Amino acid sequence: MKSAPYPKQPDLKGVQDRLTAIQAILNDLGRDLIRIQQRELQIKTKSNALDLVTQADFLSEERIKTWVQTHYPDDAILAEESGRSIPNQDSGLTWVIDPIDGTINFAHGLPLFSISIGLAQGSQALGGLVYVPAMKDLYSASQGQGAWKNGQRIQVSKRSEFSQALVVTGFPYSRHKYIDQLTNVVRCLLLKGRGLRRTGAASIDLCWLAEGRFDAYYELILQPWDTCAGSAILSEAGGQLTDLFGEHWDISHQTLCASNGLVQAEFLECLTGLQELPELQIRHF
Ligand code: IPD
Ligand code: CA
Ligand code: CA
Repeated sequence: MKSAPYPKQPDLKGVQDRLTAIQAILNDLGRDLIRIQQRELQIKTKSNALDLVTQADFLSEERIKTWVQTHYPDDAILAEESGRSIPNQDSGLTWVIDPIDGTINFAHGLPLFSISIGLAQGSQALGGLVYVPAMKDLYSASQGQGAWKNGQRIQVSKRSEFSQALVVTGFPYSRHKYIDQLTNVVRCLLLKGRGLRRTGAASIDLCWLAEGRFDAYYELILQPWDTCAGSAILSEAGGQLTDLFGEHWDISHQTLCASNGLVQAEFLECLTGLQELPELQIRHF
C-alpha cells in the first residue's frame, strides 16, 4: 500500500453501503468473542513474547473475510492475521481488518478490545466501524458523513489548554529499542498535561478521542489495521491527525499524533524527541 495517489475518485456511496451492510454480523461476532474470552482461551505468541494471538483473533478474521468475499468479491482485503487478499477484478476498495484490537487485554480478561473494520483506497482511509462488544458500543464514519456512536453524532472535545488535556498512548511491542525516547515523552506529558492513559487498543484510543473523552493520542509503530477505521472516525469527528512534524498523515504512516486540533501544537512539542527515529515514520507495504 504505497502512499501514491489513487487515480479514481473514491466511491463514497459504496463505502457507506458496505459499512451499513457488515454491521449485521457484529452483534453475534462480539458475543462469540466474549464467550471464548470467558471460557476457552488458547494464547500463542507472534513477533515476540509481548505480541499475542488467540484462536478468537483467527475466528473473528475468518468470519469477517468470509462475509466480505461473499458480498463484495471484487474488494481487496488487508487483515492482520492473514495479510493481503487480492480479488480477480479490483473495485479499488480495500477492507482493512483488525479482528481483535487489544489482544493483550482480551487475553487477560479485560473488556477493552474491539473489532475494527476500515475501508481504504490506497492509503486513504475512507470510513470504518469500531465495535466494542463488552460495552455494545458501535462507532462508525464514512468520509463526508460525520462520525457516530450508537446512532448519535460525536465530536472531539473543545479543551484548548494543554494543561487540561487528557492524553492517551500505546507502547509498541518493540518498545525496548526506543525506551529512552519513549520515557522522555512520557515525562514531558506528565509535567505538562492533565494525565496520561493507556487503554491497550489503538482503535478505542481513536474513538474515545473522537467523542471527546481524550484530547490527544500518539503512538509509534502502528499498522494500517490499527488505524484505518479509527482514523476515519476521528477525522469525521473534527480531529486533527498528523505525523511528528505536524505534516500529512495517512494509514501508511507508522507514527500518529492526533488531537482535537486545539492542543496539537503544544502536544507536538512534547513529541519532538521521537523525530530522531526516522525509521519509524512511513511504512511502505
Ligand atoms: C495493539 C493495540 C495496542 C497498541 C499496539 C497494537 P493488537 O493491537 O492496538 O493498543 O499499543 O501497537 O499493536 O495487537 O491488540 O491488535
Ligand atoms: Ca491492533
Ligand atoms: Ca489484532
